[in-house]
Amino acid sequence: MRATVSTSSTAPSVLLCFHGRGREAAVAACLVAATFLALAAFLDPRAQASSWFFSSSSSSSSFSSLQSSGGGGGSEHLLLTSTSYSGGGDGGRRRNSTGKEVHEEVQVGDDDILLSLPKSSSSGHGAPPLSVSPPAAVLAPAAAPATVCSQATPRHPAQGSSDEAIQATPQVRRRRDVKLERLELGLAKARAAIMDAVRNKDNRPPLADKDYVPMGPIYRNSYAFHRSYLEMEKLFKVYVYEEGEPPVFHDGPCRSIYSTEGRFIYSMEMESRLRTRDPDLAHVFFLPFSVVKMVKMIYEPGSHDMGPLKRTVSDYINVLSNKYPYWNRSLGADHFMLSCHDWGPYVSSANGHLFGNSIRVLCNANTSEGFNPSKDVSLPEINLRSDVVDHQVGGPSASHRPILAFFAGGNHGPVRPSLLAHWKGNVDNPDVQVSEYLPRGVSYMDMMRRSRFCLCPGGYEVASPRLAEAIYLECVPVVVDDGEYALPFADVLNWDAFAVRLRVADIPRLREVLAAVSPRQYIRMQRRVRMVRRHFMVHGGAPRRYDAFHMILHSVWLRRLNVRIAAQQG
Ligand SMILES: *[C@@H]1O[C@H](CO)[C@@H](O)[C@H](O)[C@H]1NC(C)=O
Ligand SMILES: *[C@@H]1O[C@H](CO)[C@@H](O)[C@H](O)[C@H]1NC(C)=O
Repeated sequence: MRATVSTSSTAPSVLLCFHGRGREAAVAACLVAATFLALAAFLDPRAQASSWFFSSSSSSSSFSSLQSSGGGGGSEHLLLTSTSYSGGGDGGRRRNSTGKEVHEEVQVGDDDILLSLPKSSSSGHGAPPLSVSPPAAVLAPAAAPATVCSQATPRHPAQGSSDEAIQATPQVRRRRDVKLERLELGLAKARAAIMDAVRNKDNRPPLADKDYVPMGPIYRNSYAFHRSYLEMEKLFKVYVYEEGEPPVFHDGPCRSIYSTEGRFIYSMEMESRLRTRDPDLAHVFFLPFSVVKMVKMIYEPGSHDMGPLKRTVSDYINVLSNKYPYWNRSLGADHFMLSCHDWGPYVSSANGHLFGNSIRVLCNANTSEGFNPSKDVSLPEINLRSDVVDHQVGGPSASHRPILAFFAGGNHGPVRPSLLAHWKGNVDNPDVQVSEYLPRGVSYMDMMRRSRFCLCPGGYEVASPRLAEAIYLECVPVVVDDGEYALPFADVLNWDAFAVRLRVADIPRLREVLAAVSPRQYIRMQRRVRMVRRHFMVHGGAPRRYDAFHMILHSVWLRRLNVRIAAQQG
């Protein structure tokens, strides 16, 4: 079924929960029943980035004023609102295979509070209108050089459990239901432990950890994050579907600006602790396709026809949902996909449930294009030139950074034209270095190391590899957008503490705004940039704790905690 994502017009009756997004910049108003003790304390109506989940109420950043003029980041959501799914049959309230309207049974805490909440995303999918052509050969990749990770990606023979799925006897189903209930019980305990940590954040000594103890203002709530992270390590299990052949499946680019896509797929395949081979023990199911590889193998350059890409994804989901019971029982809510390609969001619209229910881990995390921060995950874009980032890391202190602000990059997308028009070749302000191309012999990384602030406007999409690069090189990042970019790991990280957010309309004031940051403030921010770097690191070999891979998984973990899958009964 190639359902398009629909718009629901029905007003929610009990809960009002809509995101400030798009031009209207509607107020992010999430009124949840008072079951959530203390929750009110986390919602600061004045903070545009309405803090939820791990927010620490005390963190009023000195830089929040920089984003005071509108709905910047107003898309956050109450992550701990849990949603109950029981797909298949009439169990749930979600009967929208036709994509009319999704009413959900949402559970808050342990008390049943039913509310109906239109879930489907409203707007378009962020891709230009495209023609749809008759089906082409879908899974017929031409022989092309498979890149980087291919050889290293292990292949696993499909497992016997799939046959079991096809002819599930009542006993098998019951066993499965018992396992599911046990999984949900485990999640409920983890949820309770984390909520407890959220409430007690200031009263307890830090948790023990041999590697690292999260602390300080870079976190919304470091204690709760730590608790949640440890719970994840203890409990979380991901199942990676075996179906599909490389390079479109089980493979991806491990270098280039899309590297996070390939690196994640690769690391997930290699992962031993957080991965399970038994789907009945899994909390989430990973759909291991690579949009970047699809674009390379399936898309016909210049055709502007993404039909074959979308068909690949919808066929894949049809195969899985026919073979296994897992997709149907949650309508995709405990499944996740991941893509760093600009077209990731568009390709995800191949299946209405994938778009509307599943966890979509995307670099192109544009809330004006259906990215929903309460269920989707913002994936950092990292331009890997080699297998690791280690050699790109580090930089001098502020006093050795003569340039105030730096940007070099192509003039495309919605933000850069304004930036270049105002600041390119601005001889009156030589400490603002903005250009399309660097002169021959000038190193991009050196420029970042010599700059106090690095400007990170999106290009064709909201994400930019500059964000991670700035963090690696200890240059304080400046996100330039109109609040539609959902920043990576924002449910854990307090971006205000180590980054500046500048609205597009404020580009002419850029110098004034940045020059107003006092040296002391700057030193503090730079120190925090150094601290937060750990979470953006990509290491050679196996991923390490608290690195980018684990932060991505942690984001998925948090979203799975919000969902409760009900057993099917019979
Ligand atoms: C899942 O649902 C689809 C569509 O309703 C159906 O065709 C398919 O057989 C179901 N899968 C299983 C494993 O029951
Ligand atoms: C986000 O999406 C909206 C709607 O498609 C678009 O107008 C805007 O330019 C996008 N933002 C960026 C920074 O790409």
